[in-house]
Amino acid sequence: MCGIVGYVGTDQCARLLLSGLRRLEYRGYDSAGIAIADEESGEVRLCRAEGKLDKLEQAYRDEPFDGNVGLGHTRWATHGKPVESNAHPHRAGRVVLAHNGIIENYLELKEELVERGREFSSETDTEVVAHLIDEAWSNSPQLSLHEATQAALDRIEGSYALAVMATENPEELVVARNASPMVIAHGGGCAYAASDIPAVLSYTRDFIFLEDGDTAVLRREGIEVFDAEGNSTERDVKTISWDPVSAEKQGYKHFMLKEIHEQPARITDTLRGRVSVDRGEVELPELRLDEQTVQKLDKIVFVACGTSNYAAQIAKYLIEEVARIPVETDLASEFRYRNPLITDNTLAIAISQSGETADTLAAIREAGELGARTLGIVNVIESTIAREADGVIYTHAGPEIGVASTKAFTTQLAAVSMLAIKLGRLTGRLDVEEARTLIEALREVPNHMEAMLEDTSQYEQLARSYHEARSFLYLGRGHQFPIAAEGALKLKEISYIHAEGYAAGEMKHGPIALIDNEMPVVVLAPKNSVYEKVKSNLEEVKARGGRIIAIGTEGDERLETFADDIIAMPDVAEFVQPMVSALVVQLLAYYIADFKGTDIDQPRNLAKSVTVE
Ligand code: G6P
Repeated sequence: MCGIVGYVGTDQCARLLLSGLRRLEYRGYDSAGIAIADEESGEVRLCRAEGKLDKLEQAYRDEPFDGNVGLGHTRWATHGKPVESNAHPHRAGRVVLAHNGIIENYLELKEELVERGREFSSETDTEVVAHLIDEAWSNSPQLSLHEATQAALDRIEGSYALAVMATENPEELVVARNASPMVIAHGGGCAYAASDIPAVLSYTRDFIFLEDGDTAVLRREGIEVFDAEGNSTERDVKTISWDPVSAEKQGYKHFMLKEIHEQPARITDTLRGRVSVDRGEVELPELRLDEQTVQKLDKIVFVACGTSNYAAQIAKYLIEEVARIPVETDLASEFRYRNPLITDNTLAIAISQSGETADTLAAIREAGELGARTLGIVNVIESTIAREADGVIYTHAGPEIGVASTKAFTTQLAAVSMLAIKLGRLTGRLDVEEARTLIEALREVPNHMEAMLEDTSQYEQLARSYHEARSFLYLGRGHQFPIAAEGALKLKEISYIHAEGYAAGEMKHGPIALIDNEMPVVVLAPKNSVYEKVKSNLEEVKARGGRIIAIGTEGDERLETFADDIIAMPDVAEFVQPMVSALVVQLLAYYIADFKGTDIDQPRNLAKSVTVE
């Protein structure tokens, strides 16, 4: 969703702001803008445009300006259409600002401000903040920009990451955070602010992660952080290990394709140092769960959204199978509003790539308040869920730029597989020998994936044959059911072809009515404990003339009788089959979308990190 980048320093910053915004594009947006203070006059000039960044860059080229304090923003519309007048930055009097999040009480604040004679030029919730700051400042000119911002924040309810600058105040940028991420950094006479690390990763790797309620003043000489009470405070500087190159395309046509190919390495990173085949043990110290607590667990509840929710559904199969602890999974947006049954002996686990998804964050907070122990399975370090949960397992996927999640998903699967083994050992349901076998299978996954990625030409052929289909059905059983759902989600997200993922056994209760010779049916049929059942479902599809793409174990000749096309996956242990078949459905969706020529990395209407409800 929205993105912010800010700079105070000695360099002309227009290029830096525009390239920072490019690095935030992946989050999803529909308008953008920059504001820069003129060094001589102190005047802040704005340039904003509806649509993609190319339009903003064109508008900027038509009337260029520059300076060494500025901010930029990409907006994903919530309040008001994605038109130029609603694009950020917004100006009120001397104050110019950009905002991520939602101001919940903006309507009443707006009414008040209008009554006091303030004129609004946008439909956004954000503009009230600019007016409140400008009003506080006009009423008490002795205040600093920071103090005026603080006064305005006292009136606001909602979530925000804010970057504020002002005319005739060209030396500084004020930022604030509440329930929407903001990082700041200082070095070499420059200070940076960003809602998301990749925006400024080319300039620094040492960041301060602001906490909720924090504000900060950024100047050339340094940065000062204030806590929620307004007291000057120190926050640790954390060094990010991601290198800037990992957020670049590196010759791949799309970030998504690069991220698909990165999976073997990122899964290896996620397993590294945590699994020991010799000892048959998994080490997850950040989990902070001892044997006694695990023995007492009455259930595990997963909350997540989107692709992460499918990782949670697979976790249910793995944990129940291996550790024999009851597992429930809930869409975070449903969990929040259904009065869930949680006890002190419940373990609530949020799975989230970003660690910032609004519904997932609210759900895990709710579970914690109801007494559950909480755990985050998160990719972005120092994200809100990672910081708030009692324990955390970081996936080491690195920055994921493509909106459609790929490597974040398979590293989540690696994490939940390790968790299942760990819990199995702690409950005593899994002996060392069994654990060794599972760990061995896990460790082999990256090698199998490498081999599968060596030649992807089959997918290009399939894309040619199937790209005109109007609708796809994906079928799977057991832990291949969530993979079927994930495959359908990937396809619809990036190719805009309608697709549904169904439990194969449920097909007879509805979707079978759709099957004809126009309808491709992707059947996940690797050799495993439910193989024979899936094969019967395959026959049912065949009998109705459906076009079958079977994803099966290599060498399985029986599938040839039914399938129009077969994609072979390596013969791996059932426990790790989801990771391997996930790669297949990702490649299928990618090549179909590529054939259709859609905007794969930034599909229409989608956002990478959904930070509003
Ligand atoms: C958005 C993204 C999805 C992601 C979902 C949950 O919808 O486009 O790819 O799966 O949010 O995000 P999270 O960061 O919580 O995993």
